[in-house]
Amino acid sequence: MCIVIRKAEVKDCPGIFDLITELAIHEKHQDQMKISLEKFREDGFGDDTKFQCFVAECEENDTLRLIGYVIYFNTYSTWQGKCIHMEDIYVVPEYRSKGIGSKLIGSVCKVADLQNCGRVQFIVRDSNKSAMKFYKHQGAIDLTEVQEWHLFRLTSDAIEKVAAKYD
Ligand SMILES: CC(C)(COP(=O)(O)OP(=O)(O)OC[C@H]1O[C@@H](n2cnc3c(N)ncnc32)[C@H](O)[C@@H]1OP(=O)(O)O)[C@@H](O)C(=O)NCCC(=O)NCCS
Repeated sequence: MCIVIRKAEVKDCPGIFDLITELAIHEKHQDQMKISLEKFREDGFGDDTKFQCFVAECEENDTLRLIGYVIYFNTYSTWQGKCIHMEDIYVVPEYRSKGIGSKLIGSVCKVADLQNCGRVQFIVRDSNKSAMKFYKHQGAIDLTEVQEWHLFRLTSDAIEKVAAKYD
């Protein structure tokens, strides 16, 4: 089995977009997926890129198939400086438990190491015990468990309301 982990290219966008859709279905949150392929392509490969991506690619019957991806971007901590947020990590079901997820997270950690990042962070739902085991296996700590942090979010309605107060 020959699997290559490489930086994503613009030509990969439709394939990555299909995997993003698979992950949204896996998480039963497809209804919240509002982004279009065009916007995703622009955000990843346009003039002002918003994220970076590695893909896992495998040769199957003489054709190349994308079987996994990881999306990440830089954030900033006033305590640690430059950090990385990992937005998605996904491996198609038939290729799981073969070390591909570890290689994808490893590629992100190599970037973080080169950039002297103080943190690589990610968010996982409480129901996704399987992913939690995978992250802990990589040496990650659960901040809710250990430090009682809660994740808060303003969604678009709330953003508009707060913004409108200061028109
Ligand atoms: C999470 C995910 C990316 C892991 O990818 P993977 O290729 O299956 O992981 P690996 O094969 O590299 O596993 C690495 C190690 O973690 C362990 N591990 C992986 N999944 C595990 C699980 N469900 N339970 C326990 N251990 C697990 C493996 O045993 C392996 O240990 P080893 O290195 O000692 O052999 C993959 O399972 C996936 O895509 N899941 C669905 C999507 C998802 O939940 N993504 C995260 C959203 S927050």
